[in-house]
Amino acid sequence: MDLHIIPGKPLRGEIKLPGDKSISHRAALFAALAKGESHLENFLVAGVTEVMLQALTALGVSWELSENNLTIQGKGFSGLISPPNEINCGISGTTLRLLAGALTAANIPAILDGSSGLRRRPMSRVVNPLQDMGAMVGSTAQGTAPLILQRRPTETILLGTEHVLPVSSAQVKTAILLAGLAADGPTTIIEPTQSRDHTERMLSSMEVQIDQKKLDGNNCVTLFPSDTNMLSPLDITIPGDISSASFLIVAALITPGSDILIKDVGLNPTRTGLLDVLSEMGANIQITHNPEQSNEPVGDIQVVHSLLQGIQTSGDMVVRMIDEFPIFAVAGAYASGNTKVKQANELRNKESDRISTICTQLQAVGVQIKELEDGFYITGSKQPVGGGVQPNGDHRLAMSLAICGLGAANATTIKQAEIFSESYPGFVDALKTLGANLTYG
Ligand code: S3P
Repeated sequence: MDLHIIPGKPLRGEIKLPGDKSISHRAALFAALAKGESHLENFLVAGVTEVMLQALTALGVSWELSENNLTIQGKGFSGLISPPNEINCGISGTTLRLLAGALTAANIPAILDGSSGLRRRPMSRVVNPLQDMGAMVGSTAQGTAPLILQRRPTETILLGTEHVLPVSSAQVKTAILLAGLAADGPTTIIEPTQSRDHTERMLSSMEVQIDQKKLDGNNCVTLFPSDTNMLSPLDITIPGDISSASFLIVAALITPGSDILIKDVGLNPTRTGLLDVLSEMGANIQITHNPEQSNEPVGDIQVVHSLLQGIQTSGDMVVRMIDEFPIFAVAGAYASGNTKVKQANELRNKESDRISTICTQLQAVGVQIKELEDGFYITGSKQPVGGGVQPNGDHRLAMSLAICGLGAANATTIKQAEIFSESYPGFVDALKTLGANLTYG
C-alpha cells in the first residue's frame, strides 16, 4: 500500500498512544510464566506483539484480547507445553530472544524462527550465554535464526553465572535473566551502559529479587533464582510508547505552527535519550510528570514547533535512544548546521541495517546525509524535496520517512507503508487527528 504525504499542515491537539512495545512483550510473556490470571491494560496490539501472543498459544497458554485489554491465564514454567510446530517470531527480535531465555528456564524444546530480516540478525549473543549456563540451544553456522532448543536431561541444572555483554542489549539481558530464574545460583549481567530496564522493574514487581548497581562505570544486574512457579500475576496499565511518541514529537518540531500534547507516555530514563538530545538542539518540549504506571515513570509531553540546531551524539546516548535514530536523522535534516552520529554500529543489527537504509532513503528525498562506518553525518538546513521512498521492511524507517515528508517541498510517497502496523498501527490516524494531510492510494 502506498501512503502519500502532502506537506504544509500544522499539527495541533491532544493524542494518546498505544502501549509501549517493550513493556507489552514482557508483560505478555511474564504473565504467561506466572501462575494465575493477569490483566494488562493498554496492551500494544500490533504485528510484533501478535507473534508473541501466537507463541503463547502454541505453548498452551490461553489469553483473551478485548480492544487493547489483555487477560492471560498464566501457567507457570512447569505448565507450558512443547509447541507442535516451529514458532514464527515474524520480524520481532524481542519475541525470539525473550522466548529463547524463557523456554530455556522452562526446559521446553522448540524451534524459534522468523522473517528473512530476523534471520539476518545476530543471535550468538543470546545462544552463547545460554549455552554457558547449560542450555542445549543452537543456531545456524552464521549464528543466526532459526534457533533450536532441545530438552535437557532432568539431571542437568542451569548454572547461575556472570555474563559480560560486549554490547549493551536489553533483549540479551532479559533472555539471560529469564534463564537465570531456573538456575542453581545468582545470575549476573554486566553491560557497558544500562540498557532499558523494564525487565528488572517488572520482575521485581512479581516478587523476584533483582539487584542493580554501578561497577567500574558498567551496569551490573544480579537476579537471585526463585521458585519458578511463583511469579505473581500482573495487574497493570502499560504506559504509552516513547518510541512511537518520538515520531509525533519530531513531526511537531519540524512543522511550522504546530503545538501538540501527547498524554501518558512512558518516561523511563533508559529510554528518553531522544528527548534530551532534541532539547539540546533547541526543541521546545515541556514534560509534566504523572503518577507511575506499572512501576514505570509516566508523563505528558507538550511539543511546539522549534528551530533546531545540529548536534553530535555518541556513546551512552546511543543506548538511551537506540530505536530513535531514523527519526533523529529527520530532526537533523531540518536543523541548521551539521548533525553527526558516532559509535552507533549496533544500528546495523536492527530491523534493517539502519545506518545504510537511513542514509539511502533520506538521500532519495533530498537530504544531504553521508554514511559513516559507525553512524552518519547530515548537512542540515536544506529543505528535503520529497518523492518516492521504500522503507525496506523497517517500520521505524517507514514512519520516519513519512514525518520527513511533512516539511518537504513536494509530496512524498511511502511504498509498502502497511509495515507501520508492526509497531504503531494507529500512526496514520494519529497524524490525521492532529491535522496532517495523508492519504492511502
Ligand atoms: C528492545 C531492546 C532493544 C530495542 C528493541 C526492543 C527490548 O534492542 O532496539 O526495539 O524490548 O528489549 P537491544 O536490546 O538488542 O538493543
